[in-house]
Amino acid sequence: MKDMKLVMKIKKAVIPAAGLGTRVLPITKSMPKEMLPIVDKPAIQYIVEEAVSSGIEDILIITGRGKELIENHFDKSPELENRLNKANKRDALKEILGISKLSNIYFLRQKEALGLGHAVLCARSFIGNEPFAVLYADDVIFSEKPACKQLIEVYEEFGLGVLGANKVSEKSIFKYSSLKVNLIRDNIYSCTDMIEKPQKDQVLSLFSVLGRCILTPDIFDVLKETKPGVGEEIQLTDAMKVLARSRGMIAVDFVGKRYDMGSKLGIMEASVEAALVHPEIGKNFRQYLKDLCKRL
Ligand code: UTP
Repeated sequence: MKDMKLVMKIKKAVIPAAGLGTRVLPITKSMPKEMLPIVDKPAIQYIVEEAVSSGIEDILIITGRGKELIENHFDKSPELENRLNKANKRDALKEILGISKLSNIYFLRQKEALGLGHAVLCARSFIGNEPFAVLYADDVIFSEKPACKQLIEVYEEFGLGVLGANKVSEKSIFKYSSLKVNLIRDNIYSCTDMIEKPQKDQVLSLFSVLGRCILTPDIFDVLKETKPGVGEEIQLTDAMKVLARSRGMIAVDFVGKRYDMGSKLGIMEASVEAALVHPEIGKNFRQYLKDLCKRL
């Protein structure tokens, strides 16, 4: 399974954030779902921070029309910085300066939202001929060891594409991808097939790709040939399936809790969990929640 030739250090990441977010309308009519707050930070900042703490040096965010807020968030903000400096608000200033210095962040527009696979294909010239990480902009994962880092470590061992996977419920597998897996050891599986949004008789397992993967650059040639699939979108799953069937991929049952910021319930769950441990409001919010529960 190991292919030492391909084991290069993962330095680049792609964060596709050009989706239309139709599951969380009406807010996404004018606000990118990736900018929805989890208490006081937009979802995409968690994703960028995860990439940086996983050792990623260069990040390409794929945006689209109406997503300018994302670029503004990672830009410098001289007027605000000046004001905070003059008012001696050091903590806030440090926080604001930190965001614009997080990493080398680049932006590219996907001119039409043709699907996640197409968004990744847009990154081809940025990536070149190296393996890279993909972090879906609407999947926020809270974990001790960054989920992306967990995948990178497995890539370094096997030299094959790695899928961040978790089990989903029998009821919901139809909304996700389904992976054909075989246990290698602990939380590591080989993956030899997959299907996007399976019908009842097509489910391969309850393991699904949840928001993170490490891809080898041969994915681009496959993506170029990938025709629109489920929902008439160019599906990343359809391209990864080709690699899984030919060379094989690895699936990691990553440790962490994933929140789907592309769904209304996911947004609320992430906000509540983050508020409970927030250094400023955590204690008061916990008390508020306890009082509220008594009334439910
Ligand atoms: P999703 O399928 O969850 O995003 O894609 P969506 O298309 O916005 O979802 P709906 O409309 O609510 O069903 C997963 C990730 O891929 C990005 C999204 O922004 C999200 O982060 N994406 C999706 C793109 O960048 N481009 C696309 O064409 C589609």
